Amino acid sequence: MDPESFAQLLTPPGWALLDGLPPYDEGTAMHLGEALRAQGLDPGLVAAALTQSRLRARATSKFGEFASSMLFTPDGLEQATRLSVAVRHARRYLDAGLSYVADLGCGIGGDAMALAGLELRVLAVEADEMTAAIATVNLRQLPEAEVRHGDAFEADLSGVDGIWADPARRTSAGARLRDLRSYSPSVERLLALRESVPALGLKLGPAIAHGDVPDDAHAQWVSVDGTVLEADLWFGPLAPEGPGRSALVVTGDDAAVLAQEGTPSSPVVTAPSGPVAEYLYEPDGAVIRAGLVADLARDLDGHLLDPRIAYVTTSLAHPTPFAHGFRVLDEFAFSLKRLRAYLRERDVGTLEIKKRGTAVVPEQLRSQLQLRGRASATVALTRIGGAPRVLVLERLGRDG
Ligand SMILES: C[S@@+](CC[C@H](N)C(=O)[O-])C[C@H]1O[C@@H](n2cnc3c(N)ncnc32)[C@H](O)[C@@H]1O
Repeated sequence: MDPESFAQLLTPPGWALLDGLPPYDEGTAMHLGEALRAQGLDPGLVAAALTQSRLRARATSKFGEFASSMLFTPDGLEQATRLSVAVRHARRYLDAGLSYVADLGCGIGGDAMALAGLELRVLAVEADEMTAAIATVNLRQLPEAEVRHGDAFEADLSGVDGIWADPARRTSAGARLRDLRSYSPSVERLLALRESVPALGLKLGPAIAHGDVPDDAHAQWVSVDGTVLEADLWFGPLAPEGPGRSALVVTGDDAAVLAQEGTPSSPVVTAPSGPVAEYLYEPDGAVIRAGLVADLARDLDGHLLDPRIAYVTTSLAHPTPFAHGFRVLDEFAFSLKRLRAYLRERDVGTLEIKKRGTAVVPEQLRSQLQLRGRASATVALTRIGGAPRVLVLERLGRDG
């Protein structure tokens, strides 16, 4: 979006055009654009309005009904914290009794909205000019929030008693995902701020290495509906649980925390392993990233199938928010021929393939199996003691 079209969008006629657009539909957007230009509207403004309409539709999954009155950039939306998670961040500041929070690198304002929505005073600082303008628009109904365009480390933080930062990763390429130096604002400089403002919260990518987490942090990996979204580092009064590692697993409206005893960089303990039992549990990704599979196995009275693979097996069913549970119906050595014969005998046409510790590509395997039956089945492909095995599974309900 060029700055001139963006400025036009913010005028009353531009805003009226955007708000008057029908719900975004990819199939008709081009015709709509042509029709609007034919009415004499500026082509740049029409393009900007249609882009916002498309981004608002996409943003509904993160911001719900608020999306329809917000503005975005594609990157800003991609990087924004979904509101349900942002509210959880914000609640830490509220619970710690803080009143004035600086959001350093506020993006389009996802986290700042949640902080100000809980009536905390917010200083939202953003280096990118257009993104800062968009945050100003998005925070317009929250008088507690002030947006400043500028560098995070040049902002006047007088009176601020809490700091939040969700630094952007400059690249999404492979190994650098783990590298703390790839973030902007700089993680090193953000961490230094806790000397003057101990209540510091940082949102980082879930690939952060345990060894990179400062000893005084509580590091919490967060998953929402099965996807690991982030690792948050909490310091000072924002970490009442004390330094360590935990997993926050959010499923729908429910949330549960599994925490370890130890420091953030304590080595990951390996659970004991043993034979396949009646049930199989697939730990949530946040539990795995936080290095808490052994804690989960202990809580479930279970053990691993293989010391290197995060499948927990138990002889009793244990309802848990931290793993998906299955009944093990069968188990045998993997061979394509044997698996195909097994599934055909049972008239299986639809196969859910789970895998851990094996290079099998589910799509390829599915086409090699050429299943045509009417029944459905779930299998887990894994290695036990180096040998490929198949476990045939039946999914347990949330209570199983
Ligand atoms: C991941 S985004 C923040 C998203 C935000 N938490 C949300 O929920 O919408 C990070 C932002 O930091 C900004 N940024 C990067 N370096 C900065 C700096 N030195 N000072 C201020 N902002 C900076 C980027 O422009 C980007 O918009």
